[in-house]
Amino acid sequence: MKINWFSVSVLLGVILSVTQMHIASADDTGRPTIAVIGTGDMGDSFGPRLGALGYPVVYGTRDPKSDKSQQLIRATGGAATATSPEQAAISANVIILAVPWPAMETVAQNLGSLKDKIVIDISMPSVQGDDGYHVPLLETSSAEMIQGWNPGARVVKAFATQGSFLIDDPHAVGGPATVPIAADDRGAKEFVARLAADMGLDPVDAGPLRMAREIEALQRLYMVPLLQRRQAAFEPYFRRSYYWACIWGDDWSKPVADAGNLADIPHTQGPVRPCPGP
Ligand SMILES: NC(=O)c1ccc[n+]([C@@H]2O[C@H](COP(=O)([O-])OP(=O)(O)OC[C@H]3O[C@@H](n4cnc5c(N)ncnc54)[C@H](OP(=O)(O)O)[C@@H]3O)[C@@H](O)[C@H]2O)c1
Repeated sequence: MKINWFSVSVLLGVILSVTQMHIASADDTGRPTIAVIGTGDMGDSFGPRLGALGYPVVYGTRDPKSDKSQQLIRATGGAATATSPEQAAISANVIILAVPWPAMETVAQNLGSLKDKIVIDISMPSVQGDDGYHVPLLETSSAEMIQGWNPGARVVKAFATQGSFLIDDPHAVGGPATVPIAADDRGAKEFVARLAADMGLDPVDAGPLRMAREIEALQRLYMVPLLQRRQAAFEPYFRRSYYWACIWGDDWSKPVADAGNLADIPHTQGPVRPCPGP
């Protein structure tokens, strides 16, 4: 019998993805507990939004007993709790790192074992240069740094080019906003894509984790109108020509595979089109 190794590898990839998504699930609803580390502008948007979508939320904060933490727990509803960043990370399968880059080195290296956990990096490791525009603080990216500190983690760069107001309300700019997602772990990337879609945002596969560098460059571009205090800023919106449902094999000379398990993602830009054939 002739074995089609491409089909086999696609099938294995899909099985692996489904398995990994199962690993990320923590309760009967299939929604994993999400740890939101940091209760600032982004943390206090993510938590209530995820809570409203039915995700169990645990906040990781330096002061779980503060009025702000307690208020956030009430605003989040469900069984939301607040604890230390390390305890929050231990109790969740998915972790959103919503802390400023300067604090990240300490925070991201003190969360206990992150082995097999999905870790979402939203940070912007840039600083204003002498001319007022942002310059990178790293030669690589914050996402790759976090991966290096936590080799077993499934690090994903996402939600980095959205203002917190869009996490609160994805329709605030009158149309879809794109969430570019970079990760080496396909199952983790798919999970975050589904999460973004659940939140009313438009996920786009931005490639492997090293592409976080380009997302961080996009952040610096995103900041320009804000730094200039323009009345009109912008939110990224990519008009897609290929849909998320089409996945490239590892070998780009091979045809694309049609991943039926992802077919429900791109609602925001119309119905799913079939992938181009071989
Ligand atoms: N704001 C946005 O619209 C936006 C958009 C895209 C990406 N981002 C990125 O998201 C991350 C969080 O941004 P943010 O606007 O939420 O920041 P923020 O308002 O300054 O809040 C950051 C939170 O991080 C926690 N934290 C832990 N260690 C800290 C330390 N040493 N110093 C200061 N805070 C510390 C604090 O929460 P606890 O007090 O609970 O510990 C703090 O409230 C940043 O990396 C930022 O670049 C922000």
